[in-house]
Amino acid sequence: MAEKVRVLLSEKEVDARISAIGEQISRDYAGKQVHLVCVLKGGSFFMCELAKRITVPVSIDFMSVSSYGGATKSSGVVKIVKDLDEPLKDKDVIVVEDIVDSGRTLSYLLELLQQRGPKSLALCTLLDKPDRRVIDVHVDYTGFEIPDKFVVGYGLDYNQRYRNLPYIGVVELN
Ligand code: IMP
Ligand code: MG
Repeated sequence: MAEKVRVLLSEKEVDARISAIGEQISRDYAGKQVHLVCVLKGGSFFMCELAKRITVPVSIDFMSVSSYGGATKSSGVVKIVKDLDEPLKDKDVIVVEDIVDSGRTLSYLLELLQQRGPKSLALCTLLDKPDRRVIDVHVDYTGFEIPDKFVVGYGLDYNQRYRNLPYIGVVELN
């Protein structure tokens, strides 16, 4: 199927917002080390850009989860495909996500990570679609609240494509 991508948030807007979040996190975690947990694959582009803008000591780790469901929907049943390499015990952890949609994936994931005994656990997402929320999740840092549209770019995909776009775009199906 042919589809078009319309720019929703330009590269400049996204970069500026990530810088602001990086500064905010640096202030909030002054004197501490932050442990960034990237949820693959979508969170990877955002996490790299964010990490470069944080001025307190940073360590990073990755995990991959898949929700049983279609390409554009999440079922809420989450499977860990790749677990973290490092324990979270006594770390100041920030989970870095691409987007919070229904909230199902994140609410499951945060509960699971909380059981590993981090000193603190926060959530940072580049995008939030509040209109779509089914399960309440507390988001500590949000890049942008966006309308209920399917978006791509900056790590987000449509059938595994468009993750490399340096901006956020809306997919328009023809
Ligand atoms: P949730 O469990 O419904 O919050 O689903 C979150 C996951 O669904 C995200 O991490 C994305 O992988 C995917 N997702 C939700 N909305 C979009 C979108 O607009 N574009 C691309 N992926 C999305
Ligand atoms: Mg994701």
